[in-house]
Amino acid sequence: MSEPVIKCENVYKIFGANAQKMLQDSNGNVDAKTFQENGCIVGVNNASFEVSKGEMLVVMGLSGSGKSTLLRCISRLTDATGGKIFIEGQDLLQLNNKDLINLRRNKMGMVFQSFALLPHKTVVENIAFPLQIKGIKTEDSISKAMDMVKLVGLDGRENYFPRELSGGQQQRVGIARSLAVEPDIWFLDEPFSALDPLIRKEMQDEFLRLQDKLQKTIMFITHDFDEALKLADRIAIMKDGIIEQLDTPANIVLKPATEYVRKFTEEVPREKVLLIKDVMESSKDNLGDLKVSKDEIIESVAEKILTQEKPVAVINENNEIIGSINPTKIINTVFGGRKNNN
Ligand SMILES: Nc1ncnc2c1ncn2[C@@H]1O[C@H](COP(=O)(O)OP(=O)(O)OP(=O)(O)O)[C@@H](O)[C@H]1O
Ligand SMILES: [Mg+2]
Repeated sequence: MSEPVIKCENVYKIFGANAQKMLQDSNGNVDAKTFQENGCIVGVNNASFEVSKGEMLVVMGLSGSGKSTLLRCISRLTDATGGKIFIEGQDLLQLNNKDLINLRRNKMGMVFQSFALLPHKTVVENIAFPLQIKGIKTEDSISKAMDMVKLVGLDGRENYFPRELSGGQQQRVGIARSLAVEPDIWFLDEPFSALDPLIRKEMQDEFLRLQDKLQKTIMFITHDFDEALKLADRIAIMKDGIIEQLDTPANIVLKPATEYVRKFTEEVPREKVLLIKDVMESSKDNLGDLKVSKDEIIESVAEKILTQEKPVAVINENNEIIGSINPTKIINTVFGGRKNNN
């Protein structure tokens, strides 16, 4: 397997004057309450994970659970209090300022929770700015920026100033600005939360389309489980600075590692996450004519299956029948399992 693009080993971020010393004394066993009693706030508590090339890791968790802090450590906008972070094998904490600036400018793209636009530059100037910093000619940068303006649906507003835009429009400028640079590693901190539902859905679809084409390595933060399910290859669920579980969407719903994760996922519509192979049976008796692939998401074939009287054949990639699924099983999964099926 190739080297991970992002690798975190026992990363801690603790705020407060005594943070470093308290972390050392605790030997890595950080108890948030004890730390708080001693004037320290635990932002990230012992995070270890890897993100591979082209993968999208979505970080979920309630407000204050440490999502932004984790991202800020990995982009080194803040220095971790302990642990190691590697970007493409390079030890991030060992980089000097020049290398760090280069890494940020050429490899990393960021979209922040707060939009961080330049107030005295127009929409198109904001988007073109990072390109100009990279040394691209003004004319070319403006032309590229105009493509991005169109992509995020802001044509006609390219000469507005940020203060003349709504929050959602400002966020779209932020997204366009970070996309313009075409970074390999893309950090997005709740990029769509200020958008209204329709535009949000459009941006998600556009984002998936782009990702399909560009195959960037992405860490994406959201509060919204539906958004996580739609976008994620894997999901990390954080609570009080701790990553409670990091796994595929299906495993998080089917095999929650902790009570917290189970609670968090009990409202999740299972048919959006689970595949036919997750719920099929091995029996091949009495099958009807309909066949479905083992890799279909239940939601996308549920209607077809529900119109059948007989069990439906489940096939693999070679068109061989490997089991069956009963219409009743679909009903159980869709309407049964959410609250009391565990
Ligand atoms: N500069 C700071 N100084 C002190 N404490 C901080 C600082 N930044 C963050 N924290 C604390 O660290 C914890 C995690 O904050 P963080 O911003 O990472 O949460 P979050 O999961 O991104 O929340 P939200 O969803 O509201 O954005 C919080 O308790 C917060 O108060
Ligand atoms: Mg945040």
